Amino acid sequence: MINVFQPSLGSRELDAVGEVLFSNWVGKGKRTERFEAEFARHLNVPANRVMTVNSCTEGLFLSMELVGVGPGDDVVLPTVCFVGAGNAIAARGARPVFCDVNPRTLNPSVDDVEAALTKTTKAVIVLHYGGYPGDVAQIAALCRDRGILLVEDAACAVASRVDGKACGVLGDIGVWSFDGAKILVTGDGGMLTARDPELIDRAGKLAYHGLEQVSGFATASQSSTRWWEFQLSSFSRRSVMNDIQSAIGSVQLERLGDFVSRRREVVHRYDEMLRGVPGIRIPPPLPANHESSYYFYWVQFDGDIRDQVARDLYDAGIYTTFRYAALHHVDAYRWRDPLPKADQAVTETLCLPLHQALSDDDVDTTVEALLAAVRRQRPSSATRRYTVDSMPGGVR
Ligand SMILES: Cc1ncc(COP(=O)(O)O)c(C=O)c1O
Repeated sequence: MINVFQPSLGSRELDAVGEVLFSNWVGKGKRTERFEAEFARHLNVPANRVMTVNSCTEGLFLSMELVGVGPGDDVVLPTVCFVGAGNAIAARGARPVFCDVNPRTLNPSVDDVEAALTKTTKAVIVLHYGGYPGDVAQIAALCRDRGILLVEDAACAVASRVDGKACGVLGDIGVWSFDGAKILVTGDGGMLTARDPELIDRAGKLAYHGLEQVSGFATASQSSTRWWEFQLSSFSRRSVMNDIQSAIGSVQLERLGDFVSRRREVVHRYDEMLRGVPGIRIPPPLPANHESSYYFYWVQFDGDIRDQVARDLYDAGIYTTFRYAALHHVDAYRWRDPLPKADQAVTETLCLPLHQALSDDDVDTTVEALLAAVRRQRPSSATRRYTVDSMPGGVR
């Protein structure tokens, strides 16, 4: 089976984990501190503005708590969004307000977000669909103007940038995922950043039972002789990442540039083979000042053939999927208003395999099977434009 997503983990990660195991300290400790500092450098922010968490979902829940969202507040988010974002809003007793998305990029435009703002909008959550930054810079400016907090779910965008600035640091809070389907993988895990370091202090307490003082260990400087006593700042939970995960994260971060380069090559190969094929649309080009992590590669079809194409590809040993099923159709969110552009996108779009371990042969096999599947549905379309060997100038 050709996987749609796949991590690249190997001997370097194994060695790093081995070191942690033999160090006799596998909880959150020095390795995690180091990974946080490295990730802060990757984002080009001070180290006191980032903190690991045990998942991006937890980061989303924390973010809503940190910005003080509660009953009576609205939080705007695109309907094409990860379910954890909707849940993080609803779990605070606030109302998720879904906005429409651009049907080609699946990101909301700044106008889509603006149209959804209400008098009681306290925050906006956006993601960067497939790693494409979209209008996030303009959305950040809109939120600043209106005094609304912006949370970036940067799970797709670990290496994405706008004008050289990392996605995830353009708003007030950013969160990342390192789960097994992401580009940078630590098994499970995540990162949270905040513009205001005070929010990181609070997040640290919330992620560790609400303890006033996070370390429960004796230190030379401690005035109390009873280091096991504590006070609480809130009633909270435990959602930390450990040194085993962080050791993997450090190695993955070093490899991230190579991962993204290979993903870019795969995307170019898909683009070259699929551009201009009747009945299939490829993702719009990336604006010159944007960098993508290339997390998803998606195609869109004319007419109602997506589901059958996905089935045919599965039968041919190629796993595809669609991210993210529209949240405004989930009954629990009780949404009523139509979002026609998103409805169009979620019925036409299919995410093809994209990961750094894909070979050129895998890409070619996927394209062949895709074109055959489309031809079965629409005999007149999906004529292959180039054969792999006859591609002019080869594949970039
Ligand atoms: C955009 C987005 N946000 C958040 C998450 C949640 O990440 P985690 O599995 O680390 O909780 C995911 C996971 O698929 C995601 O795709």
